[in-house]
Amino acid sequence: MELIVLDNYEELSAEAANIVKALIRHKPDATLGLTTGNSPIGLYRELVRSHYSSDISLERVRIFCLEEYLGVQPDDRRSLFGWLNDLIIAPCAVPGSQVYRLKGEDPEPQISCEQFERAIKDAGGFDLVVEGIGTNAHIGFNEPGSSEHSRTRIVSLNESTINYNFQYWNSAVPSYGMTAGISTLLSSKHILLLASGQNKAESLARALTGKISPDVPASYLQRSRRLTVVADRDAASQLSGL
Ligand code: PGA
Repeated sequence: MELIVLDNYEELSAEAANIVKALIRHKPDATLGLTTGNSPIGLYRELVRSHYSSDISLERVRIFCLEEYLGVQPDDRRSLFGWLNDLIIAPCAVPGSQVYRLKGEDPEPQISCEQFERAIKDAGGFDLVVEGIGTNAHIGFNEPGSSEHSRTRIVSLNESTINYNFQYWNSAVPSYGMTAGISTLLSSKHILLLASGQNKAESLARALTGKISPDVPASYLQRSRRLTVVADRDAASQLSGL
């Protein structure tokens, strides 16, 4: 594991962008699994800036949106795909044929989960997954209790996740979600974990320095093929001995 601790969110975002840009320069048709939330917003802004200044092109990348709410249409303002689309997909003109989402609105969402898994495989697997960490140490919507072997599936969201996510739109958060599973995430060649703020300090320390356990889903990241953690000082404040 590589741990990079920076002073603040801006520096964290710039460092994360450097990692993603290096991959895209090396492999312009890279397959990316991307999350939403507060943690990666600065990273996506940096990538959009780089796209506009022709520093990099995202024209050939494939993007998988790793989570969605169940029962939510893609044009619903709470849609996680819609959020990712606004943040990076549309501004960087990534063609729709290279973008994959979990169809929360599908009457048979389980089939959408299976199609998502197949599409990842058909794309040759993830080159890079970008994730944040929950204050309850979830990863994606893999809440405490998730199996290391879990694949993309429908999940019931914890009350703490529902309460936390309320801040994104100040409106009701669905009780169920769809998420790439732990095993799906761990299959990536590289995982980039972003953590910012004091409220992530405890969960980050449990994930990186504690015992690997389903109670701390992010602890499974210790088994990643390659893990880079980019944290600010506040989030890293309980990481002693690393
Ligand atoms: P955040 O959410 O990036 O908005 O803090 C992360 C998460 O809950 O997984």
